[in-house]
Amino acid sequence: MSINYCEKERVFTLQTQNATYQMIVDSHGYLLHCYYGAKIERQNLSYCIQPQDRGFAANPPDAAGDRTLSPDTLPQEYSTFGVGDFRESCLDVRDKNGGVAADLRYGSYRIYPGKKPLNGLPAAYGNEKDVDTLEIDLRDEVSGLVVTLRYSVFAQWDVIARSAEIFNRGTGVLILERALSCCLDEPVPASRDILTFYGRHMGERNLERMPLRHGKFRVDSMRGASSPHYNPFVILCDSAATETAGNCWAFSLVYSGNFIAQAEVDQIDTLRFVMGIAPQNFSWELKPGASFQAPEVLLCFSDYGFDALSNRLNGFQMQHLVRGKYRTERCPILVNNWEATYFDFDEERLLALAREAKEVGIEMLVLDDGWFGERNDDTTSLGDWFVNRQKLPDGLAGFGAKLRALGLQFGLWFEPEMVSPISCLMEQHPDWCLHIPGRENVTSRSQCVLDMGLSAVQEYLFERMSGLIREAKLAYIKWDMNRSITNARSMALPPHRQGEVWHRYILGVYALLERLLNAFPQLLIESCASGGGRYDAGMLYYSPQVWASDNTDAVDRLKIQYGNSFGFPMKTMGSHVSVCPNHQTGRTAPLETRALTAMCGSFGYEMDLTQLSDVEKKQIKAQIELFKHQWQLHQLGEYHRLTDAQNDRWFTAWQVVSEDKSVALVQLVLLAPRANAPVLSVRLRGLQEDAVYEDDGGTRYTGAALMKAGLALPPMRGDYSSIQIEFQRLL
Ligand code: DGJ
Repeated sequence: MSINYCEKERVFTLQTQNATYQMIVDSHGYLLHCYYGAKIERQNLSYCIQPQDRGFAANPPDAAGDRTLSPDTLPQEYSTFGVGDFRESCLDVRDKNGGVAADLRYGSYRIYPGKKPLNGLPAAYGNEKDVDTLEIDLRDEVSGLVVTLRYSVFAQWDVIARSAEIFNRGTGVLILERALSCCLDEPVPASRDILTFYGRHMGERNLERMPLRHGKFRVDSMRGASSPHYNPFVILCDSAATETAGNCWAFSLVYSGNFIAQAEVDQIDTLRFVMGIAPQNFSWELKPGASFQAPEVLLCFSDYGFDALSNRLNGFQMQHLVRGKYRTERCPILVNNWEATYFDFDEERLLALAREAKEVGIEMLVLDDGWFGERNDDTTSLGDWFVNRQKLPDGLAGFGAKLRALGLQFGLWFEPEMVSPISCLMEQHPDWCLHIPGRENVTSRSQCVLDMGLSAVQEYLFERMSGLIREAKLAYIKWDMNRSITNARSMALPPHRQGEVWHRYILGVYALLERLLNAFPQLLIESCASGGGRYDAGMLYYSPQVWASDNTDAVDRLKIQYGNSFGFPMKTMGSHVSVCPNHQTGRTAPLETRALTAMCGSFGYEMDLTQLSDVEKKQIKAQIELFKHQWQLHQLGEYHRLTDAQNDRWFTAWQVVSEDKSVALVQLVLLAPRANAPVLSVRLRGLQEDAVYEDDGGTRYTGAALMKAGLALPPMRGDYSSIQIEFQRLL
C-alpha cells in the first residue's frame, strides 16, 4: 500500500517509486503540508514546519494566546479565505449572511485500493493494483461545509492525482466564489523556477522558464477553453534543474476550460502553488446536501530532471488517462483535405484525392470544414449539420461508401459548440446561443457560441452527430472549436447564478463527448481548437489524438512538438506532412524532413496528393511503409529531447527508445547549414550502458559510448536537411 497513516503522530505519508508526499494533522486540526519531493522513508517530516510568531499574524479563536499559530504562516494543504490566511486561497465561500469564511479542520479519512471516477469530469483511472486512494475530510463547523481532499497514488508512475469535492452539509445555501483543485505549500524556502508553455494560434507551447520571486506569478485562461495562450500544464523545479538532473514537479490540470496556475513566494520565502478553475467570474450555488467537484490535477515528480519527468507523466497518461483502442493501437494514417482544397471541393475532387491517397498507402480520408449547410467560406452554416448535396450528391453515406469501396476509412469534421449567425439553427433557436439580452453578440470568425450547458443543445448535437456517424459509418471525427467565449450568459440560469455558465459549458462538452463515445466505442475523436488551442489533459480523456497546430511548417513544428513533449504523450499529437512552400510560413523544407517531423506524432498528410510528381509519390509510399514499421517506437517509446528545439540555432535532435532498450532512433534536422562546420554531435539517452548497439551503417558502439562520448555525425548540407539513424542492440 502506497499510503500510510500513523495514528499516533497523525501523519499521512504517500509513497511512490521515487517520491514522498507527507501531511500532518496538527493539534488544532489544521491539515499541514510537510514535504513533497525525493523519496524519504521512515521519517516524520513535520520538523520542517517551524511555527514562529511572525509578528501581527492572524490567530484563530482556539490559539488561546499562542501567536505562533496562524494559517497565514503554516503550510496549508487546502487554503481558505477569511480566517487568517492572506495568501492565495483555494476556497472562498459566502454564507447566507454575506460573510466569506471557511475554517477547515480535520474530520476523518479513508484509504482504499483503486480510484473512483469524478462525477462529470475527466480523470485518471486505474484498478486496485494500479492505485491507492486517500480521502481526507476537512470541516468548517460553522457553515457545515465539508471538503474532501482526494489523493490517488499511482506509485509506479510517480503520479499523484489530486482533487477536491466540496459538500454543503449545513442548513443554509452557500455560494462558492472559488473552488480550486489543489494547493501545495512548501514549508521551507527553496530556490525554484517555473516552466510555463505560452503561445498563440500557429505558435503553440513555447517553453518559458523563470525564477520565482516574491509575489505572485500566474498563467491562466478566461477564454472558455484552456487556450493556446497559456497551457494548464506547468513545471516547478530546482533552479539548477536540467533535462537530466534536479528535482522537478509537474502539475497538469485535467480540465479544458478557464483555469489558473499560480506560484507565490511569500514574506518568509516559502512557496505556495495553486491550480484549478479560474476564480474570475466563477461562482457556484451549493444548496444543502449538494456537492461541487473541482477538477483533478496530476502531480508528477522526478529527481532526475525534465526528461524523466516527461517520460513518467506521458507514460502514465497513455496508461491511465487516454482511453479506447487507440491508447495502444496505431491511429489510421490519414489525409485531411483542408490544406488540399479548403472550402473549394466537390465529390469528384475528393475522390481524386482519395484515389491518390489509397495508391500511396494512406488509410483514411478526413473531410474537413465545408461539407454542410451553405458553407462555402467561414461566415455561415455552423450548427446546420446537414450535408450539402451540391458538393456531395449522394450524401455522406454515399460518399463514405465510395471511400470504403476504395479501401479507405471515412473521417469528418464538426465544430459542434458553435453556431453561425447566418444559419438555420440560429433562426430556429436564437436562445441556444450564449448571449446577454440587450447587448449584441461579439463574434469571432463570424461565429457565436452555443450554450453547451443546455440539455436541448446537447440533445440536438447528439442526435445530429450520432445520426451522421451511423449513416456515413464514420471511423473518426475531428472536433474543432474555433473561438474564445464571450457573452457568457445562459438563459437556463437566474441572474445570481450566471457565474456557473463557464463551468457548465465545459461539463456540457464533456457530457456530449462521453455520450458519443459510449454510443460509438470504436470512434476516434481528434480534438482541435484552431490547432492546439485546447490541448490539455482533460481532452486526452476523450480524444487520443489532438491536432497540435494549424502551423504545418515542419521547422516550426519542431518547436511546437518540443514544447508539447514536456507534458503530452507523442502519440496524442496529430501531425501532418503538408506542401511546400508551406501555407503558413512560405518556407520550403525537404519532403523527408517534413515526414520525419510528422512521424513524431499521429502521422498523416494534408496536401493535394493529385499534384505530386511520381518521385514524390514514391517517397511518400516509402515514408508510410517506414512509419508502419516504426510507429511503436515513435509513439510509445521513451522520448528524449536531445537539444533545446526552441533556442538551439544549428540543429534540432530527438531520440526514441523502445521500452526494452533494444532499438533506438535518433533524428536530427539541420536548421542552418554552415561551411566548414564544427562536428555535429549529440549524446544519446536511455540505452543499456554495457550493451553493444549497431547503427544502420554497421558501426558498433557501446551504450555507454553513445551516452557519454556521444554520437558524431558526418557533415550535413542543405536547408533543413535531416537524418534518421537506427540503432539495434546486438544480442
Ligand atoms: C481550424 C482547424 O485547426 C483547421 O485544421 C481546420 O479544420 C479549420 N479550422 C477549418 O475551419
